[in-house]
Formats: sequence, C-alpha cells, structure tokens
Amino acid sequence: MKINLANIKKAQKLLNKSECVAIPTETVYGLAANAYSDTACKKIYKLKKRPKNNPLIVHYLNCQILKKDCSFNNNFIKLYKKFCPGPITFILDLKKNSKISKIVTNKQNTLAVRFPKHPIARSLLKKLNFPLAAPSANLSSKVSAVTPADVKDDFGNNIKYILDGGKSSIGLESTIIDLRNKPKILRLGGLETSIIKKALNKKIIINNNPSKISSPGQFKIHYSPGIPIRLNVKKIRNGEAYLLIKKNKRTKSNYYFLSKNGSLREASKNLYSTLRKIKKDKYKSIAVCKIPNKGLGKTINDRLMRASKF
Ligand code: TXA
Ligand code: MG
Repeated sequence: MKINLANIKKAQKLLNKSECVAIPTETVYGLAANAYSDTACKKIYKLKKRPKNNPLIVHYLNCQILKKDCSFNNNFIKLYKKFCPGPITFILDLKKNSKISKIVTNKQNTLAVRFPKHPIARSLLKKLNFPLAAPSANLSSKVSAVTPADVKDDFGNNIKYILDGGKSSIGLESTIIDLRNKPKILRLGGLETSIIKKALNKKIIINNNPSKISSPGQFKIHYSPGIPIRLNVKKIRNGEAYLLIKKNKRTKSNYYFLSKNGSLREASKNLYSTLRKIKKDKYKSIAVCKIPNKGLGKTINDRLMRASKF
C-alpha cells in the first residue's frame, strides 16, 4: 500500500494534541496515543472501556529511542536483532527516569514494548517525538480489528481518525515474551514460539494459561465475537455458521473458509475478519472445525478457545 503523507500528517497533528488515533500495524490495528501524556492515555481506556489495571503496550520506532525508557538485557538484544521490527512484544524493566505515563503502566515498573513493521506505522513514528501507547483497536474483551472498517464498527464516530493501512498482514496480535528473568511467553501470537526458542537457543517457559494472571491478554474470556462458539466440530447444528480451515467443494451459504488450501498463515490473516463477518451475517452461533495445533495454529486455537468461553 502506498504511503499517503497527508494522512500521516493528519494523524500526527491529532496525536500531538493528545488525541487518540487508530493506526495500522502488521498484527492488528492499534488505538494509539502519546505514551508520555496522561491525558492522551486516559482517552484510550475510556474509548476501549478497558479496565484501568490493564497496562498498555508501547510502540517504538527502534531500540535507540527505547533506551530512554527501558533497560536492555542480552536476550532482548538477540531477539530485537532477529525479529524487529515485527510481531513480538517484550516485557522489560522501566527506567526510573522514564517519561512513560503512569496511566500506561498502572504504576508498575515494567513496560510492554513493540516495534511495528507496518510501513505506515513506522512512517508515523518517525514524525513523532514520543512513542505510541496502543492496545488493539477494539472494545475491551472483543475481537481485534484488522481493517479500518472493523475499527469503525467498534467505535463509530467516537474515534477522531483512522489511519488507513489496508488489512493487517498477520491478523493475530504479537507474541508477548517477558524477558526480565528466564524468558517466558505470556501470550501466544503472530511469531511462533518454536522460532523464538531457536533464536535464543534455550528453553523458554510458556505461561499462556497461568493460575495467576500477569497479563490480562491471558484472561480466559477474550477475543469474543459476541456469539457462542463451539470447537472441534464435525457435525454442525441447525442454524450454526460453520468455520472451516480450508475451502470445501461442498460449500453452503453458512460455510466460512479461513484459507484456500489450509495455509495457517492465510487462516490467521482471515480469522478475526471472518468472525466479525459471521456476526454481521446475523448467525447466532459458530461451529469451528478442528484446527491443526501446530505453528500459528496454536495461536488460532488459543484465541478460539478464549472466544468460546463467552
Ligand atoms: O499486536 C499487538 O500486540 C497489538 C498491536 C496493536 O500492537 N496490540 C495488542 O495490545 O494486542 P493489547 O492491549 O490488546 O494486548 C496487550 C497485552 C494486554 O493483555 C496487556 O495486559 C499486556 O499486553 N501487557 C501490557 N503491559 C504489560 C506488562 N507490563 N506486563 C505484562 N503484560 C502487559
Ligand atoms: Mg487486545
């Protein structure tokens, strides 16, 4: 997608005035605001109806800029070099003299940071002299937004501006890894755990379903399309929409496909938009076929499992 400088300027102007703007990233759309401003960050919570104790991810252009706010360690440097910009979020120690708003961190001394790859997000970050706090641009506990139209559906005219960057290419949120001690995955995401493990060349803990919640993305009920979902379904019930991993010759009007030939990458990209479409098409419930539990399929299954707790 071509970068439209006038649109980026418009977003920049609003962000400089402590307003919220929806921005495209390669994972999902973010609801962005100046991470150094209490006023701006308060608006994110209000718009999303997000509980105040759920801290925000902060987006940076690069690690030179992040140096002002967080301390680094070897694991961070390794993963940064290999995967950034890209779909991975790091939990790091916040520096005492950091300017990050206390609203972002809920007064904790850690920060979730990410370096988005989307060229429009990067082009915007280059123009700003602050990083962007940006949770996913959806109402709290609902399915993330992967297009400007999704954002509009959730926020209507309450949002001042949506910066159009087309459909998010990955379609699943970033993988969150806590690097303060032994590397620990807090949320499965768009970067596969096995690839991270290989890069670190050591064991990593996966704490995606903890008894104690340390990252609210781990909440059991999340990513909900607002209608019930049944998983691993071979036989659907009357009136259900059927969500299938690949195109099926015996297609019917209530069949929805995540990919042409079973590609998990393509399925990830289409997951949230298809869940939203089924809801829009007025189905009252969704049956999902078995999705292979490998690679990105693990993230897809994680999201569907949480969505099914509705
Ligand atoms: O791909 C993504 O990560 C997208 C795009 C917009 O960057 N953002 C996103 O944000 O998914 P959000 O807020 O929907 O999910 C971020 C998760 C939340 O569950 C939050 O609780 C957790 O990150 N988080 C934020 N700060 C944290 C911290 N200091 N320690 C642990 N978890 C944290
Ligand atoms: Mg979210």
